[in-house]
Amino acid sequence: MSQFPEHFLWGAATAAYQVEGGFDADGKGPSIWDIFAHQPGATYQGTNGDVAVDHYHRFREDVALMAEMGMQSYRFSISWPRLLPKGRGEVNEAGVAFYSELIDALLEHNIEPMITLYHWDLPQALQDEGGWEMRSTAEAFVEYARLCYERYGSRVKLWATFNETIVFIGHGYVTGSHPPAVKDPARAIQACHHVFVAHALAVKAFRESGIKGQIGFVNVLQPHTPLTDSPEDKAAAALADGIYTHWLYDPVLKGEYPAELVSQTQALWGVPRFAPGDDSLLKENIGDFIGLNYYRRETVVANNEETQLKANHSGERNSGHEFGFKGLFKFVRNPNGVYTDWDWEIWPQGLTDGIMQIKARYGDVPIYITENGLGAKDPIIDGEIVDDARIDYLRMHVDAMEEAMRQGADVRGYYPWSFIDLLSWLNGYQKQYGFVYVDHHAGLARKRKKSFFWYQKLIASRGEQR
Ligand code: BG6
Repeated sequence: MSQFPEHFLWGAATAAYQVEGGFDADGKGPSIWDIFAHQPGATYQGTNGDVAVDHYHRFREDVALMAEMGMQSYRFSISWPRLLPKGRGEVNEAGVAFYSELIDALLEHNIEPMITLYHWDLPQALQDEGGWEMRSTAEAFVEYARLCYERYGSRVKLWATFNETIVFIGHGYVTGSHPPAVKDPARAIQACHHVFVAHALAVKAFRESGIKGQIGFVNVLQPHTPLTDSPEDKAAAALADGIYTHWLYDPVLKGEYPAELVSQTQALWGVPRFAPGDDSLLKENIGDFIGLNYYRRETVVANNEETQLKANHSGERNSGHEFGFKGLFKFVRNPNGVYTDWDWEIWPQGLTDGIMQIKARYGDVPIYITENGLGAKDPIIDGEIVDDARIDYLRMHVDAMEEAMRQGADVRGYYPWSFIDLLSWLNGYQKQYGFVYVDHHAGLARKRKKSFFWYQKLIASRGEQR
């Protein structure tokens, strides 16, 4: 007997910048990604989301494919500058109408929308004022969130405020590989604090709005395993947990920062700086669920060498993935691990363990697996997209999620990344994740992959047929 209850949601996910295109259509304002991706050398071979897979113009065709696959829920994000071209103030009604029509199309097919309010495409106008380093951006975010609640709240029950703080703050303010391309941990911590403030304010506004639904936060779930049993490696892995997990989950699930770490950053850099009332704001506005995005684990060693930041964006296996901070930790290759072409370790057990670690630290919080998937260059044989590796990956992770449910975790939905092949931020269009293939040489024509039919069967059998 499978563990999946009747109301369990089988879905799939995308994000606005990665699928929509229409970057300046019908009054949309520029986002930080529209600007950043056009800078020479910023992304893999200069790829950008100007057109993406043109979901903005083809959403009806895409929703029909979702329905055909049997999807029960669709997680997508709203582009803030499509609704508010300057980040606040004047509303772009054409942008509001786009999502309104998308939501209606989903509901007509009995597909439950799950909205992510922020999947990294900050209005450039707000970045020009200082972006997340300014508290005023958190206030603008609440204005934007209220607009969404007002226009879509009667039709949408599932909401998430932010997607993966570690990525847009970590890469935006520490490694500098995402906009605004800053490299300063102290600035990262303060920007991140404003994200937590924005989340809490948006949760508060959600509850005041009276919407009959749930609002949560989406984080990366990244377990860390020490390479050896040495006390140094164990301490390094614990520190990685502290930074990658506790720092990012505690403020939204407990309403406070991990005490030991925060005293260190405040002693070192004087951040995060709290405004009066922030303490109680965070404490009183804990969300209703946590979304977990799981792809891989990291194997960790102590690191006294120089800081190394080198990522594989080409998809050439073993092309030199190095990541570590001097004096803190370093992520290394697990000698026994199985890796993707982008050097991400495939380790399904990490999904079970990670979910159980969240449950152990935060109690019985409802969980959605908001992303999980394999980035690969899919083989095409006789015109068919034979993505067996993706099917294997997803099957193993569904098993792992089910195991966590067997152990008592309250998991309510599963959203593979991604519904359709889309733009991978720094890796271009060649890193494919979708159930639906997009032919960039044939006018962006859609084609069902082998995994499309596999997932269709899985959903129809409520998870039994894998
Ligand atoms: C998550 C993001 O980080 O992982 C997605 O929420 C992203 O937007 C996905 O595309 C996969 O990452 P990547 O770098 O392979 O595209």
